[in-house]
Amino acid sequence: MNPHDTQERREEAGLLRAPPGPRGHFVGDNLREYARDPLGFLSDCAREYGDVVKLRLMGRTFLLLSRPDLIEYVLVENNRNFTKTRLLRRNRRLLGEGLLTSEGGFWRRQRRLTQPAFHRERVIAYGEVMASFAERALEGLREGETVDIHEEMMRLTLEIVAKCLFDADVGAEAEDVGRAMKVALEDFSSQRRLIRIPKGIPTPHNVRFEKAARRLDGIVLSIIEERRKSGEEDRGDLLSMLMLADDGSGERMTDSQLRDEVMTLFLAGHETTANALSWTFWFLTLNIEAEVKLAEELERVLGGRVPTVADLSGLPYVERVVKEAMRLYPPAWIMGREAIGECEVGGYRMSAGTTALMSQWVVHRDPRYHYDPERFDPDRWTAEYEKELPRFAYFPFGGGPRQCIGASFAMTEARLILAAVAQRFRMELAPGQRVEPYPSVTLRPKEGIRMTLAKRSRGR
Ligand code: HEM
Repeated sequence: MNPHDTQERREEAGLLRAPPGPRGHFVGDNLREYARDPLGFLSDCAREYGDVVKLRLMGRTFLLLSRPDLIEYVLVENNRNFTKTRLLRRNRRLLGEGLLTSEGGFWRRQRRLTQPAFHRERVIAYGEVMASFAERALEGLREGETVDIHEEMMRLTLEIVAKCLFDADVGAEAEDVGRAMKVALEDFSSQRRLIRIPKGIPTPHNVRFEKAARRLDGIVLSIIEERRKSGEEDRGDLLSMLMLADDGSGERMTDSQLRDEVMTLFLAGHETTANALSWTFWFLTLNIEAEVKLAEELERVLGGRVPTVADLSGLPYVERVVKEAMRLYPPAWIMGREAIGECEVGGYRMSAGTTALMSQWVVHRDPRYHYDPERFDPDRWTAEYEKELPRFAYFPFGGGPRQCIGASFAMTEARLILAAVAQRFRMELAPGQRVEPYPSVTLRPKEGIRMTLAKRSRGR
């Protein structure tokens, strides 16, 4: 290729200009502003500098992409030129080579192996577990009681994912697992610090993390071991499928590979859904009109009955409430992809090693795609609204080949739990409870959400 042609073409396309972006500091570049308030900082950057914003964090270059077609380019059209980011890869201690972090041929094989556990008919069958576990959790709750709804949801969604995918009852260990998960997940957020201390150095944080990770390892490995010991390897669940699969050469997955997949599904499969539900309940306390409308739909369709998957198509408002909560408080609030080779994004050159950042928090609140974006308005989710929406103007589950494998699992679970809980109780925010989003690896309530439960009189 003639180098001058390339030069001209690039100039024409504006490829020699760097994308605009905020000035950085001598040490850490833009990290200080980002670390102080990631949600506010990224939103301000997109508003001030546009759809492609250049950021520098700790000597590395990032491009914040905030237009649906640019996100589609990275996640779908040119997905082969991108890998998961270093941040995720650094969390190998916990996630290993599981579905969320692996790449290439190994990822493709594992995805193919895992996919059948998420087929429609399987998810319908899981619906029974979801609804009955929700009922079991509700039996433990009393009118007038104040509970941390985030903690309750974390416990419930963990129990559900363990039962559905691995036929394991973690009820007794749920609190323990919850505590260990909390420490482990805090580790993700600590990675925003200016000075990062290597995992091998026994700081109090690292010691706590290692202890939590070991506790989780123990629980996951005991699930695998018990299954092996029972001699009943084919129970028809995901664990059986993973244990029995061979890679064509007769090789089965090792315990360590199994551990990575189980741990990944535990982690990816419960906190996100728990957050979606926690934010949903919180929005309902702030929006009485939506709360009443939801109660009316539940009374009309269920009349106090335990919800089933078959009921869900008759509960469109339940779905709209969940979708709207995930628009404003997306549990996965940011995604990253690192370019393997140089490419062109939005008229700018993106060199190899640069990371594209795509934030659901930013795009879901963009007035170009969502009218009155800051308002919680479940009624916006009409069929026409969805039809008009560019594909990546709403992407709570990501997109392209690495799209969330548990999307329909999560939507079924969230709707069933919301229906079960909301037809039994109305919630009020406990006095003095501050609710603040905390953008860790997921977007969760910083100090939990303490709610007082009020019994629902029929229809209200
Ligand atoms: C509301 C709930 C959930 C949300 C918002 C959510 C969001 C996401 C997003 C955005 C991704 C893509 C990440 C990326 O491409 O970088 C993802 C991937 C993934 N999710 Fe979910 N998720 C949810 C629930 C679940 C559940 C219930 C499961 C499993 C039971 C699950 C398992 C996974 C796995 C294994 C991946 C990696 C898939 C791959 O790379 O092949 N998620 N999720």
